[in-house]
Amino acid sequence: MNVFNRSLCIATALIFTLPVIGDSADAHKVTVKEVMEAVITPATNTLWGAEDPQTDEAWKELESAAIATVTAGTYVARGGSGESDREWSSEEEWQAFNTAMIEAAMDALTAIRARDIDALYDANDVLYPPCEGCHIAFNPGVQ
Ligand code: HEC
Repeated sequence: MNVFNRSLCIATALIFTLPVIGDSADAHKVTVKEVMEAVITPATNTLWGAEDPQTDEAWKELESAAIATVTAGTYVARGGSGESDREWSSEEEWQAFNTAMIEAAMDALTAIRARDIDALYDANDVLYPPCEGCHIAFNPGVQ
């Protein structure tokens, strides 16, 4: 195969592969709404439901919930495959509420790792307002 044929071959392969790569990247994405329901809601319910954990397992469960919230927040910052996700995540207000949620979850994680239940309660109090604020700003149907 000469050089010209080889580049033609590579070019043809790229033309047919690129849209497929784009599609499969989207297919691997989930929506902000799905992340809210499947990750953020159960994880934050675990954090808000914390009651004087006594065992390592109980602390470990709280730790996982805080990590899940931080991770989900990182996803929400970029938006997913939902119809309005990209538009929402391009807004400064979106980023501000989301960053406040991530920071509160990070404070919760620090408190959990220090086995400091009062610090966890404090972080939990700060964790709720960004949920409410963002829902009012971007999706008035949700509280
Ligand atoms: C940066 C903005 C933002 C933050 C922060 C946020 N949410 Fe959301 N949430 C949304 C948006 C937007 C939707 C609706 C998505 C849609 O309908 O496509 C939603 C939907 C939901 C839903 C689904 C409700 C329904 O019936 O549609 C739940 C539950 C939820 N969020 C819980 C939470 C909790 C709990 C927190 C805080 C720990 C939180 N969210 C923080 C933007 C946010």
